[in-house]
Amino acid sequence: MKQAIITGASKGLGKALAHQLAAMGYDLLLVARSEKMLADLAQQITATYKVKATSLALDLSDTKSSGAIYSWCEQNQFNPSVLINNAGYACWGFFESMPIDQQEKMIQVNTGSLVNLTHTMLPLLKRQPAAYIMNIASTAAYQAVPTMALYAASKAFVKSFSRGLRYELRNTNVSVTCVSPGPMSTNFIQQAGMEAMQETAKKFEMPAEVVAKKGLKAMFNKKSESIPGAVNYLTVKFSNILPDALLEKIAANLYLTKLKP
Ligand SMILES: NC(=O)c1ccc[n+]([C@@H]2O[C@H](COP(=O)([O-])OP(=O)(O)OC[C@H]3O[C@@H](n4cnc5c(N)ncnc54)[C@H](OP(=O)(O)O)[C@@H]3O)[C@@H](O)[C@H]2O)c1
Repeated sequence: MKQAIITGASKGLGKALAHQLAAMGYDLLLVARSEKMLADLAQQITATYKVKATSLALDLSDTKSSGAIYSWCEQNQFNPSVLINNAGYACWGFFESMPIDQQEKMIQVNTGSLVNLTHTMLPLLKRQPAAYIMNIASTAAYQAVPTMALYAASKAFVKSFSRGLRYELRNTNVSVTCVSPGPMSTNFIQQAGMEAMQETAKKFEMPAEVVAKKGLKAMFNKKSESIPGAVNYLTVKFSNILPDALLEKIAANLYLTKLKP
């Protein structure tokens, strides 16, 4: 029985991952807040592929959410061999100007809930002959981004945590892969109130379906990291040799100049 958990599955990259894993024969537990959207997706996937998809509407900023996911798995004899920590979003603006409770909530979703769910689900993943964890970071994980300082920091956390955990688990059945997309055509920009960035993002955007395909390939091939898209990959590799101060200036030129005072 192939079974997988995907967080942030209601839209965007999570939805694309759900379709592709269902096409590979995985039963799915789909987690996000949008109850109706998630239930409709579960129904559509169950009707389209020969699998069972179930929706579990949860707010991952709630520290009890991983316990609820674990209980659901135990009650439903759901034995996942794949855990995809995809839920995440950005707050755009000056750190000082944005309410701290909103920013802390974002950190909790992007990092805290990912850590907690991974820790909670590891005993179940270890029961499988082979298991996979995919953590979604971002190309922003590789450098500081003024006006998205906390978002970039949260994704750097995801990347570093994924690599450290991967090493700790190297002699076990569980493989950890960190996927770092660049801009994608999803709800991300609208959610972050970054409409002013839409035109720029469009020039670099990749379809979520393509990112999902490349991410799944990397995960099942037990790769440590994946940066989908040649431009994204080269940008990250090139950024390794540039001084941090220059990278921050380039990022500020892209993001800060578009921010309304
Ligand atoms: N799009 C990009 O340009 C881009 C670039 C690099 C990395 N990423 C990363 O890719 C991942 C997927 O984002 P996306 O582009 O697909 O954006 P999206 O379309 O906005 O999807 C985000 C997903 O996260 C879920 N989510 C947000 N807050 C949540 C919460 N409190 N509890 C539970 N679920 C929550 C959303 O569901 P509900 O709203 O229904 O809760 C949605 O399913 C994120 O980790 C993002 O940081 C995106």
